[in-house]
Amino acid sequence: MPDRYAVIGNPVAHSKSPQIHAEFARQTKQDLSYERRLAPVDAFVASASAFRAGGGRGLNVTLPFKGEAFRYATACSERARAAQAVNTLRFDGDAIFGDNTDGAGLVNDIMRNLGHAIAGRRVLLLGAGGAARGVLGPLLELQPARLTLANRTPEKAQLLAQGLRGAIEGGSYAALAGRAFDIVINATSASISGALPPLPQGVFAPGALAYDMMYGKGDTPFLAFARGEGAATLADGLGMLVEQAAESFFIWRGLRPDTAPVLKLLR
Ligand code: ATR
Repeated sequence: MPDRYAVIGNPVAHSKSPQIHAEFARQTKQDLSYERRLAPVDAFVASASAFRAGGGRGLNVTLPFKGEAFRYATACSERARAAQAVNTLRFDGDAIFGDNTDGAGLVNDIMRNLGHAIAGRRVLLLGAGGAARGVLGPLLELQPARLTLANRTPEKAQLLAQGLRGAIEGGSYAALAGRAFDIVINATSASISGALPPLPQGVFAPGALAYDMMYGKGDTPFLAFARGEGAATLADGLGMLVEQAAESFFIWRGLRPDTAPVLKLLR
């Protein structure tokens, strides 16, 4: 019997994780299976526990269960604690280890795949929900010149910034007027509904990277805006998806797969 893994979420039918992990397993010659697991919105714990009782070795957790997965874990990494969210569970006997690989996925994609440094750069992160919280710590650790959070509800961004040490500030979109950034990351859920965060013009510095954590066919409204504003590099979240998966694979199997051919295959 191969070791069993799955991605659990609701919805989960669209998830590319099974394909990614199948490629990683093939590449590293690991005998494992990876399935999709649709959990009712009010039954994450029951569904995860049933998978575990059936011999499951680990889960990737996607929306809307990352907060519940954090509470479900009996032990977790520092980065998961900081995010109060877990996207990777590993079952070790009685223990349930929780980690969050989203931030590592984002920074690895930006630095390795896209070739943009984060250290010393002016970084703007849009949003103050779960997606933003998951990547804040790993971004700050790389010591950007300043990490600016902007949110439609500015108080949420201010509160997040106040809870962290380092060159970080939080506020409104309007407060961005007249300022420019080297990296602008969209961690809002605006793209899902075809909306654009209310960015003023001129936030993209020469050579800037515009990064949307969402992915799909064609430009998101944010990437279309960035293109019009002259951002030098545009990226969607597909690279982050593959990189966070690689980090999860490492937590489960102790091996680092080569992400480049998998990203190429998905494109
Ligand atoms: P997630 O876990 O995906 O981050 P969330 O916790 O619901 O989801 O947070 C959604 C984020 O997207 C929030 O920062 C939200 O702004 P508010 O805190 O002001 O609600 C942001 N968001 C959603 N739709 C948006 C829009 N049309 N324009 C700007 N920001 C938007």
